[in-house]
Amino acid sequence: MILGIETSCDDTCAALVTHEGKIRSNAIASQGLLHARYGGVVPEIASRRHLELVDAVAADALERAGARLDDVDTVAVTRGPGLIGALLVGVSWAKALAATRRLPLAPVDHLHGHVVASTLGGDPIEPPFLCLVASGGHTFLARVDEPSSYAVLGQTLDDAAGEAFDKGARLLGLGYPGGPEVDRLARDGDPQAFDFPRSAPGELDFSFSGLKTALLYRLRDEPEASKADLAASYQRAIVDALTARTRQALEREGLERLAIGGGVAANSELRAAVSQLDAAVWVPPMELCTDNAAMIAGAARFLEPVAYPGYLSLDAAARLS
Ligand code: KG4
Ligand code: ZN
Repeated sequence: MILGIETSCDDTCAALVTHEGKIRSNAIASQGLLHARYGGVVPEIASRRHLELVDAVAADALERAGARLDDVDTVAVTRGPGLIGALLVGVSWAKALAATRRLPLAPVDHLHGHVVASTLGGDPIEPPFLCLVASGGHTFLARVDEPSSYAVLGQTLDDAAGEAFDKGARLLGLGYPGGPEVDRLARDGDPQAFDFPRSAPGELDFSFSGLKTALLYRLRDEPEASKADLAASYQRAIVDALTARTRQALEREGLERLAIGGGVAANSELRAAVSQLDAAVWVPPMELCTDNAAMIAGAARFLEPVAYPGYLSLDAAARLS
């Protein structure tokens, strides 16, 4: 089995996945509440908390899988992109474990994990497919022909979709993280009450910063406007932008299968909208959409791990080229 470790942001994650892609356990210790009072992730707090939690979360993953360390033949770890201090905790931990047991280590690109999350489980998606990843840190469309890699077709030029949800929620006086709060409030609102911009830069790119500014001005000019209507219209603009680009990418690339991932894939309106597209759609369960280690171990299945002691000089990277 592959033991995966993921500590790129504010969730401490460990998982056990078989080489065939069966998830034996997927343990996540969320630090959400710890950061909520600051309205966002505080990098230094996240690193320290990962350090406190990583042993226990890995032990939990083993226990839930009914496995022992002897059952692990490969260690996989998120190398980047992410918060450098947070990543370093996972990378150091994984290197230490792999080295003491002389196991091979697979350094994994966090985004590759999101892209291939739907290849896990009982109904795996088969390449070629398109993947829309929309999270708090990233928003992009990727084409997958071989699961060992992906080609980015388009991406956000400024804010990520989750960031647009979080910033919008903040302007509306809602809590953090904002996506679920906007999603909830939007159910009571009219998505056509306000006309927010759908900016369409570059062929398959996204831009969400103008939308946030439009909401700011709307709130300033109409302080009495219904928050539910604003939330519903704002959410509709984000979902429309994501869905329009996804439709264009499917058509341009001639692809018939679509996977979505990242925290924003939890959005009820986005889930409904992509199901209307002309493609077979894979929407992974929530715990595979948000940051998790099963997707990291899952991506490692398609990579050649580095043998001991080659990875001792491996470093985390806040950005990957
Ligand atoms: O993938 P994720 O857990 O962490 C990152 O790697 O960023 O994504 C978190 C993002 C947050 O911005 C959060 O507001 C958003 O996903 N999110 C949602 C929903 N649930 C989480 N956005 C819209 N609707 C939701 N239901
Ligand atoms: Zn992520």
